[in-house]
Amino acid sequence: MNEVLYSVRNLTKSYQKRVANDGLSFDIVRSEIFGVLGDNGAGKSTLVRQMAGLTTPDSGSIELFGRDIRRNLPQLRETVSFMPQSSEAMNRLTVKEAIYYISRLRGAGRAAARAETGSQIDAWNLSGSAAKEAVKLSGGQRRLLQLAIATTGRLPVLLLDEPTNDLDPINREHVWDRLSAINRELGTTIFFITHDAQEAEKIIDRVAIMRDGRFLAIGTPAELKRAQERHVKVEYRTRSAGGEPVWKRYTTTVDDLHGIVDSLADEDVTDLLVRTETIEDLYKDYVRNSAVREPVVDSLPDAAAQLEMDVETHARHGDRDPRLDHLRAQRHLE
Ligand SMILES: Nc1ncnc2c1ncn2[C@@H]1O[C@H](COP(=O)(O)OP(=O)(O)O)[C@@H](O)[C@H]1O
Ligand SMILES: [Mg+2]
Repeated sequence: MNEVLYSVRNLTKSYQKRVANDGLSFDIVRSEIFGVLGDNGAGKSTLVRQMAGLTTPDSGSIELFGRDIRRNLPQLRETVSFMPQSSEAMNRLTVKEAIYYISRLRGAGRAAARAETGSQIDAWNLSGSAAKEAVKLSGGQRRLLQLAIATTGRLPVLLLDEPTNDLDPINREHVWDRLSAINRELGTTIFFITHDAQEAEKIIDRVAIMRDGRFLAIGTPAELKRAQERHVKVEYRTRSAGGEPVWKRYTTTVDDLHGIVDSLADEDVTDLLVRTETIEDLYKDYVRNSAVREPVVDSLPDAAAQLEMDVETHARHGDRDPRLDHLRAQRHLE
């Protein structure tokens, strides 16, 4: 059953003149993994802090199990665990002490808290720093400690503000795997904010793309991709006229793929990658182009309009793209 757990309606929050959340409405259902992507200043932290009961909305409502969270703070505390984007809390405690303390605070007896502390230290790759004071941890270790603290006590809802910031690629992958396992094994509902779209895509059930306090898109990755049907990314590395290898990137359609790939025969291509769009691509397109994207084209000549110049290459070298010439030549032949 898709039981609604969080229900957010017309949520609005401003700071001085700036609207940080602009009439947000959405539901989070039990046991789903919901990710929010957005550029800096989009209002993501403002949103999650309100969901955690730490910031008061200007207007609108946030309900948890059908009850306003601010009128029911004990329920919020027992149900929801919030990991802030940054935290100086418990700096003077060691990793082991901090986890033990939280475990006790969330109801475990001494023996159970000791056992949980041990298993959390293992689960979050913290055994090397278990005796370190939190204040002396690296950014990545601190993030792992925050995750250990957030997941201690197995509360049914996790709100995580950028859980993989500062982590190296291996720990980042580990964190997504752990979160996925927690969701699978305990049915924990997970709402998180991230910039790590590529990795997050592997575990999210639904995603929202946020900009200027609003959701530009919300849905399952498949739904968002369907809205942009049959888009394909072609990326290749080639030598430019100056002899320097450069990466070029295009967005095209499945129908036009052959023409594009065939035309590469005339070039000195060393690497070629053809892939369907990821949520990260959609995110970048939405954030760059606001809500409206170009319609999909279905004929080769028109694909010229669709070519997405590699911003970096062209801005830097100001060169002319051979694909355009190729496509123009084709158009003449018709
Ligand atoms: N406590 C605050 N006081 C004043 N402005 C704030 C405060 N918190 C956030 N803002 C502003 O609200 C906007 C959204 O911030 P935030 O929610 O932190 O965005 P994000 O997490 O998406 O980067 C930003 O313009 C930010 O400067
Ligand atoms: Mg933030």
